[in-house]
Amino acid sequence: MSKTIYILNGPNLNRLGTRETEIYGKVTLADIEKSCRELTEKSGISLVFRQSNTEGELVNWVQEAADKSCALIINAAAYTHTSVALFDALKLLSVPIIEVHLSNPSAREAFRQQNFISPAVTSGIFGFGAIGYDMATNAIIKKLEQEL
Ligand code: DQA
Repeated sequence: MSKTIYILNGPNLNRLGTRETEIYGKVTLADIEKSCRELTEKSGISLVFRQSNTEGELVNWVQEAADKSCALIINAAAYTHTSVALFDALKLLSVPIIEVHLSNPSAREAFRQQNFISPAVTSGIFGFGAIGYDMATNAIIKKLEQEL
């Protein structure tokens, strides 16, 4: 089995650190990547970590993850609330998928109550800020260790 975790990030997450810091905190996406990379490297697992502001590019990467990954962690950001295409792409995966959000969208504006992604994922971590990515990465690592 492939030992590569994919972590995919949607629109505007490249602006973490300066974007609405009262909601998302001051940690940058580069900081998040570094932390996840430290966790995977310790466990001998490869990590693909990407961000795009474009829906189609994210769909292509989810399809790539369907072929090449042992698990997917995804923060689809605003596309969470709009994208049937991402839902359909996520349904292609037979490996665990963890949906991460820095904030808890359910506790925010009404338009964030709609979530197209959740029905296609295995689990979700919402509202823990950047720590949510570490939690998701650790959960996948533990699961892989159990399967050995
Ligand atoms: C987000 C929540 C989404 O509603 C929002 O559009 C984002 C970030 C989060 O991580 O809290 O861009 O996915």
